[in-house]
Amino acid sequence: MTPDEQKQAAADAALDHIEDGMLLGLGTGSTAARFVDGLGRKISAGLNVLCVPTSKATETQASQLGIPLTTLAETPELDLTVDGADELDDKLSLIKGGGGALLREKIVATSSKRMIVIADASKHVETLGRFPLPVEVIPFGHGSTRLKIKAASSACGCQGDIVLRMRDGEPFVTDNANLIYDCHFGRIEDAGTLAQVLSSIAGVADHGLFIRTADLALIGRPGGLQTIKVDKWHE
Ligand code: 5RP
Repeated sequence: MTPDEQKQAAADAALDHIEDGMLLGLGTGSTAARFVDGLGRKISAGLNVLCVPTSKATETQASQLGIPLTTLAETPELDLTVDGADELDDKLSLIKGGGGALLREKIVATSSKRMIVIADASKHVETLGRFPLPVEVIPFGHGSTRLKIKAASSACGCQGDIVLRMRDGEPFVTDNANLIYDCHFGRIEDAGTLAQVLSSIAGVADHGLFIRTADLALIGRPGGLQTIKVDKWHE
């Protein structure tokens, strides 16, 4: 299977976990978009679900497909979120936010009883960190926040360039009107500790480490589908 076929296989496998009446979180990115397409087809065929999108892009896609949408304000607890990832390890710790939707993705995923990650094989790594870790920051004082991120991550053994994400020559602005710093750490030996430390910094809205959030990964591989299941509460 090609990488695109691997993404499709993972998205198709996630559709098998959807049951009538479910409240769903819809992820963001090219793999999640395949799942949303498939969900749209199932809804046209009679499936009844209610969904919360994790970005404006997914909201637009889902609306065009006629997928019934709600908000966490109206529906604060969901059954399942299906989303992609930039990296995942064997414990299903994740790096997310390559597409810039990490804050809403985390709010939606952690408001769901379960999270299924769908990915192609290139995303499955032994140690997180080769993909630059996105950290979403409030614009006010973001230069100072960057220095705090640098000091705190360095104390956790993570060093590397911390770069403001740009798009078309301007700072990239998230759906929440925030900015993103991409942290080029290379290896993150203790993702759990780094996650806690980053969360405690004033000015950090959130970061792309998802720890004990996903319980199932469906990974498309050249030779077929790989499933990784964890008990996120007892690891
Ligand atoms: C967006 C994300 C995406 O899930 C992540 O970037 C993976 O995207 P893709 O499926 O296109 O590789 O976290 O914020």
